[in-house]
Amino acid sequence: MSERKLLPISQPISGTIKIPGDKSISHRAVMLGSLAVGTTKVANFLTGDDCLNTIKAFQALGVSIDREGTNVTITSRGATALEEPKQPLYFGNSGTTARLMIGLLSGLPFVSIIHGDPFLTIRPMDRVVIPLKKMGVSFVGREDGTMLPLAINGGSLKGITYPLPVKSAQVKSAILLAGLFAEGKTTVIEPALTRNHTENMLAAFGADIHTNKNEITITNKQGLQATDVFVPGDISSAAFFMAAAAVVPGSKLTLTNIGLNETRTGIIDVLHQMGASIVIDNEQIISGERIGDITLTETGLRGIIIEGNIIPRLIDEIPIIALLATQAEGTTIIRDAEELRVKETDRITAVVDVLSTLGADIQGTKDGMIIHGRTELSGGNISSYNDHRIAMMGVISSLIAKAAVVLDDVSSIAVSYPRFFEDLRQVINK
Ligand code: S3P
Repeated sequence: MSERKLLPISQPISGTIKIPGDKSISHRAVMLGSLAVGTTKVANFLTGDDCLNTIKAFQALGVSIDREGTNVTITSRGATALEEPKQPLYFGNSGTTARLMIGLLSGLPFVSIIHGDPFLTIRPMDRVVIPLKKMGVSFVGREDGTMLPLAINGGSLKGITYPLPVKSAQVKSAILLAGLFAEGKTTVIEPALTRNHTENMLAAFGADIHTNKNEITITNKQGLQATDVFVPGDISSAAFFMAAAAVVPGSKLTLTNIGLNETRTGIIDVLHQMGASIVIDNEQIISGERIGDITLTETGLRGIIIEGNIIPRLIDEIPIIALLATQAEGTTIIRDAEELRVKETDRITAVVDVLSTLGADIQGTKDGMIIHGRTELSGGNISSYNDHRIAMMGVISSLIAKAAVVLDDVSSIAVSYPRFFEDLRQVINK
């Protein structure tokens, strides 16, 4: 446990931060680089615990992966050269590693045993296991093979057409990665647009993949070819600093090289609707992903309704949006976000607990929350629920609280943003 006492600040924050690499894209770069023939160089890789667990998994499958800081070099002889792991593969806290690897390992002709930390062990895997069983994979594990630890007997898959019952990029990606190895075509039909990094990157590595509106089809094709990947800054990490600049009076922050893929920019749309002053400069496309610099200047905020198809475009940002809503005039209603209940923790319960402990007027609903603003935040003792995004929301809350905020444990922040406190210190003008 790593407790942290955080004192309020009395002056604006300002400056420029280079936000670390995107978590989703870093995972996928290691996965596809390991399946491809040749050498893949990944720049600006996220060195968070989750992505390091993905690297370790492929090293255990026999792939040569070297890392120097945020530069990763993967050398592989392709999917057919991957070896049966001699030990169980450990994915720590990483839901993305677990779900995507279940799909990928399903295509490989050997037995893999996978496990994770106590929090990952209670997260639902049936959402990927059910369609993969339809493709011909067999699983052994608790709860009829739908929870970790899990044994996967991979190989001999057949393609399916699968309408996704949940709005989940992890489930979509698991099926597409299995589809790389399946006989015939595999089609996933999405109920709403979710992050499309898997599709973009598979195309860049030479896979036969096509998107037609909400249907994505992949055809079995061995022999992905290595290609270099530049990982943009993670908009989900940037969101904490956007929020800090939006709520600390007089602040102005610039965040550089941020990924602006439209499947991820719901937070920018929400900040605009809430009345924030946000400017995007230096837009360009690198490695198939749009990037740019974001400058946010503090102005007043107003409450809004957030619902429907925007939800998957900002699902990871809802905890920090809830904090913004406590500082907005009027009521903010968040609906259609029941997926929050199965994240690293039940994020509806966690957000409501943390913010109401600090004096916010917030109620949880079955699929979201209702927040009445604007309320001044008090100090207090809060829990991070061992969830990196709840912990970072707690830290940003402390900047505007009237007294000290004590967070029980900040160690989970290393999952997605190991440099978080250094970057924060840099923009606090003491
Ligand atoms: C992710 C997809 C989302 C997101 C998670 C990362 C990904 O999860 O919450 O942090 O990289 O595909 P779901 O697919 O469960 O919505």
